[in-house]
Amino acid sequence: MSIVFDQQKKLLTLATAKSAYQMQIDDLGFLQHLHYGARTGSQDMSYQYYDFDYAFSGNPAERRSDRSFSLDIVPQEFSSFGEGDYRVNSVAVVNADGSRAARFHYVSHEIRSGKYAIPELPASYDNGDEAETLIVTLRDTVTGLMIKLYYGVFEKLDIITRYTEFVNDGKGPVTLEKAASLCLDLPMGTWDLMHFWGKHAMERQPERAPIGHCITTIGSTRGTSSHQHNPFVIICDHDATEDHGDCYGMMLAYSGGFKAEVENSQINSVRAVMGIDDTYFSWKLEPGQSFHTPEVILSFADGLTALSQNYHHFIRHNVCRGKHHLEKRPVLINNWEATYFDLNEDKMYALAKEAAALGIDQFVLDDGWFGARYDDNAGLGDWFVNTKKLPNGLDSLIQKINDLGMKFGIWVEPEMVNEDSDLYRAHPDWALTEPGRKPVFGRNQLVLDMANQEVVDYLYNCLSTLLKEHNIAYIKWDFNRSVSDVYSHALPADRQGEVSHRFVLGLYSLLERLISEFPDVLFEGCSGGGGRFDAGMLYYTPQIWLSDDTDAIERLIIQGGTSYGYPVSTMGAHVSASPNHQTGRTTPIQTRGVVAMSGAFGYELDLTKLPESDKEAIRSQVCQYHQDEVLIHQGDYFRLTDVTKGYFTAWQIVSKDKSGSLLNLVITRPQPNPAPLHIRLKGLDPDALYKIAEDDQIISGSALMNGGYTFRPMMGDYRSAQLHLTAVS
Ligand code: GLA
Repeated sequence: MSIVFDQQKKLLTLATAKSAYQMQIDDLGFLQHLHYGARTGSQDMSYQYYDFDYAFSGNPAERRSDRSFSLDIVPQEFSSFGEGDYRVNSVAVVNADGSRAARFHYVSHEIRSGKYAIPELPASYDNGDEAETLIVTLRDTVTGLMIKLYYGVFEKLDIITRYTEFVNDGKGPVTLEKAASLCLDLPMGTWDLMHFWGKHAMERQPERAPIGHCITTIGSTRGTSSHQHNPFVIICDHDATEDHGDCYGMMLAYSGGFKAEVENSQINSVRAVMGIDDTYFSWKLEPGQSFHTPEVILSFADGLTALSQNYHHFIRHNVCRGKHHLEKRPVLINNWEATYFDLNEDKMYALAKEAAALGIDQFVLDDGWFGARYDDNAGLGDWFVNTKKLPNGLDSLIQKINDLGMKFGIWVEPEMVNEDSDLYRAHPDWALTEPGRKPVFGRNQLVLDMANQEVVDYLYNCLSTLLKEHNIAYIKWDFNRSVSDVYSHALPADRQGEVSHRFVLGLYSLLERLISEFPDVLFEGCSGGGGRFDAGMLYYTPQIWLSDDTDAIERLIIQGGTSYGYPVSTMGAHVSASPNHQTGRTTPIQTRGVVAMSGAFGYELDLTKLPESDKEAIRSQVCQYHQDEVLIHQGDYFRLTDVTKGYFTAWQIVSKDKSGSLLNLVITRPQPNPAPLHIRLKGLDPDALYKIAEDDQIISGSALMNGGYTFRPMMGDYRSAQLHLTAVS
């Protein structure tokens, strides 16, 4: 049993292989949080806390005489609102009478086998006997607003998931103005916050800093999880390293705006709150109605590497779904950086023919194949083939590509519309625009109102027709601007605060219908690269184009930063031209291959213009990738260096049974009189002997891990090396 209730002490304890989580119903009926961290056996963790009169931290009426209890101080499972807890709040409400208080008392709890699902939202799943669910119900006795706290405990996987359901169990309407998924009061400690910031073409740059006595907010008000921040944060001990130290991960499975707040309080206790962004949010609950928040995936581990590996396994096996999520992925050629909008049947066929000769599995026709799409001013919304560019229609090109032995994939950006499109001319009110104001444009396009069911149905008909009528094996689903003008012409004034969340629900419902109806199609997410790279999208699309920056050296940080929370199998990664189109940097084809291979691999350059030597390199990279793919996607991933520092970056993947490993190293700053490149390997079997394919040496696992491996210095720009290790005893 991973969930245990101690009736006498009113303790609820959740246990995973290496972590424990405990809460207690106190004398006043508040649900206090006692512990989340390393295992503590059957210990009642309340001994750590004592009552004390903290001035200016007020007391509920029941305890006004001894003044020693305050909601401003005690650790809580889900904080109240307007009841004397001045720390960062998890909920904000407006009650029917205009009052704004909510104080939650324990009502009941229930333990179920299996993992809960969340209506209309992505939620991690149980593969059979992996999880138990706890539901704790709390209620505000005055208004009847009820919250149900859901916990999914994946014992062996060291994962605990949480989400909150708000139920209006009262007599009048209640409006939620903030509805967090998670409130977590951490154990006492000295904590750092690690998060992943960025911008377009420079996503998920790791940043780590001590948690000060302030509220630190990471989030997105852009309607997507965004390039600028990722809905994944780590709180770790100030001294935590890759190998040791208490590390907590908090990942929101949501693709819209989000907010993660961390506060270090007056008594040095840290509270983390995570959920939907409340900037544009309000949600009216009539009596009897419920609101479901997205899920937060929590993990606790000793060291950052173990934490990342927990998430890698969980996302691959318990978040991503469908036929493709654990299968080998096709190596693809995408025409975007080869031709941009300038495509036609002959050019596409020439590119595909060259790709087929190099062993590439799938051709992807990117932006520009539909409507009046010659540049980014027109066409979005008209998902019908542009017969000026492809006069013989899509099928002629698809057939020719299939005849080369390759699969065919196509790009779409369903949630967008250009003013210059038949769709916009027919339905201007289907775009999000504020009444009486000119809208904000992004890449010359407007955002469709996914909160309007008619729009979602229209898109479903277009896309399902496309998939039914043509032999399409893969869809790249793009989203190329931030959302603004958050106003739906289909909703009344008092529901406008619901638009941003209803938008995300509309997207999810569309994706759900399509992936259920077309289970063989591989969907790849995208948002100007990695602007919507989150566990919500990964529930529908097992891979996401990681970044519009295809420069191998920049990618080391983007892929390395992403690796803290997400597995390599989810990261779309392509070899592109040199000099690189985003940075102008020149890198060897070998290095571009080494970097892109730690991902869902492909190419994105004009193969017809390459010298024979590059083609030869590509041919052998494709073969190598096919040989190494199972190890790369299913093995344990180790960051051997800090991706933001040093003159080389190294990372390693080790098969689960430790029989094989791949070490990758890229020099990021060539030096004169170079020091030897020395690296200690990780994760090997210390007692095994490993044969290194590249130099024919046989060396023990313990030597490689405790002594290390030294590469000879390499002269030249951005050189790289790989070692393939195979256990021979
Ligand atoms: C986005 C994507 C690119 C490409 C273009 C097409 O920027 O990230 O890969 O598909 O759109 O317009």
